[in-house]
Amino acid sequence: MSFIKSLVAAVALLGTVQAAGVTGTPVGFASGTTGGGNAAAAAPSDITELTKWLGDSTPRTILIDKEFNYLSSQGKCTDCKCCVPDSNTCGSAGQNAIDNSDWCGSYPTTTCTYDKAGLEGITVASNKSIVGVGSEGVIRGKGLLMKNGVSNVIIQNIHITELNPQFIWGGDAITLDGTDKIWIDHVKVSLVGRQMFVSGYESAGKVTISNSEFDGRTSWSSSCDGHHYWTVLGYGKGDHVTFTGNYIHHTSGRSPKLEFANYWHAYNNYWFNNTGHAFDVGENVNAFIEGNVFHQVDTPMLTDSKPGATFAVTTSTQSTCKSAIGRTCSANTLVQSGKISGSDESVLKNWPSGETGINVVEATRVRSSVLSNAGVGKLSSSKRRRDREFPFAPSLPILSSAGPGASAVGPRPTWGWKTVGAQSSATPSATPEPVQSAGFGHGHRHGHGHGGFGGFGWF
Ligand SMILES: *[C@@H]1O[C@H](CO)[C@@H](O)[C@H](O)[C@H]1NC(C)=O
Ligand SMILES: *[C@@H]1O[C@H](CO)[C@@H](O)[C@H](O)[C@H]1NC(C)=O
Repeated sequence: MSFIKSLVAAVALLGTVQAAGVTGTPVGFASGTTGGGNAAAAAPSDITELTKWLGDSTPRTILIDKEFNYLSSQGKCTDCKCCVPDSNTCGSAGQNAIDNSDWCGSYPTTTCTYDKAGLEGITVASNKSIVGVGSEGVIRGKGLLMKNGVSNVIIQNIHITELNPQFIWGGDAITLDGTDKIWIDHVKVSLVGRQMFVSGYESAGKVTISNSEFDGRTSWSSSCDGHHYWTVLGYGKGDHVTFTGNYIHHTSGRSPKLEFANYWHAYNNYWFNNTGHAFDVGENVNAFIEGNVFHQVDTPMLTDSKPGATFAVTTSTQSTCKSAIGRTCSANTLVQSGKISGSDESVLKNWPSGETGINVVEATRVRSSVLSNAGVGKLSSSKRRRDREFPFAPSLPILSSAGPGASAVGPRPTWGWKTVGAQSSATPSATPEPVQSAGFGHGHRHGHGHGGFGGFGWF
């Protein structure tokens, strides 16, 4: 008995105990997050019960075993005030904006009808695991909101969708504002009005976003090209974010946009078909970007007017990285994409501790592993052990690299694979960035109804 007790204690110390219903344990900054812990897994019967369970003070493992549809649950705003921002040059294929806190300013007004539930996420309290079953877990019409000191939440294997995608300010999928220890894993987000993920302005604390899919395909595009602009916004002061194994595709901006003194480690992610920018690293941010694949990404990194510090690993800075942090760093790979740069060693020197359990692999292995692993419905008992201990399994197909330092073997992809530092002239010509209009500067606007970010952005 005492042996078992000490074994349990030892395993707990190693941080490898899985919470009930949850697959695996988080790596990176959110390691140690246990969500609902050992609370028995149970599925709510309807949205009323789900809302109650998410918001109460009981530690819970909440199974999302079907679609929970919040559309119309709070009624519709009909003939409400919206506007046509300058970005909408394509009418019904673009996004008009809900007049959130007078954001619309002098833009031409129009009336609109939207679903009220989308505007603010469901309140999630501390010590919850929210876990999708198979590929059945969908929350439609409303996102998740964690704020005011909420900590220790796991969100795994669910799809959040249909938050007034026609409208800017129509809804954010996952919002963190004054939180700590949040693990977002195997989540899919699609068809939102505003951000797929947003933190700020209060610190989101220690966060890991892993194996998730940010699907930007939309019929209402702020960039008027079928791609979603508002993807990931990291605005929390002092956030420590590990962003890994994610699939970010068909977006056109803010993938991610970072500002306000936070730390983001983005490694082994796959960006595909982004018609605008991926990274926008703003003031005081420390961005450590390694071992990612940017495939058909027009602008992997925007030139911010007040740039923060970035270390984006290339084949020529791998040795610098190694001498600074004592392990081999992984170069980013660009395929039919623009450029990424940043060799600010202060990022490495100031890197905070606590990002435990990470395993950065070569970019040559990222595309296939992300495609087979990211998003909902990818967890299975046969994969559990492998995912936990070695997220990028060697049994997956390995792509070859035409870049220096490549060690992987396998068929060379037809679209031409190259690592940073070996960029060819095959880079597609850049499409112009959306024009930023005057009148909406960068000011904090706290206190509006649904915790949005009025006044930010490129228009
Ligand atoms: C969450 O769980 C921890 C550990 O059991 C506990 O100390 C804390 O009070 C809980 N938080 C809430 C809000 O219930
Ligand atoms: C990539 O995006 C472009 C521009 O929207 C589109 O024409 C093309 O079909 C997309 N490619 C894929 C494979 O989705």
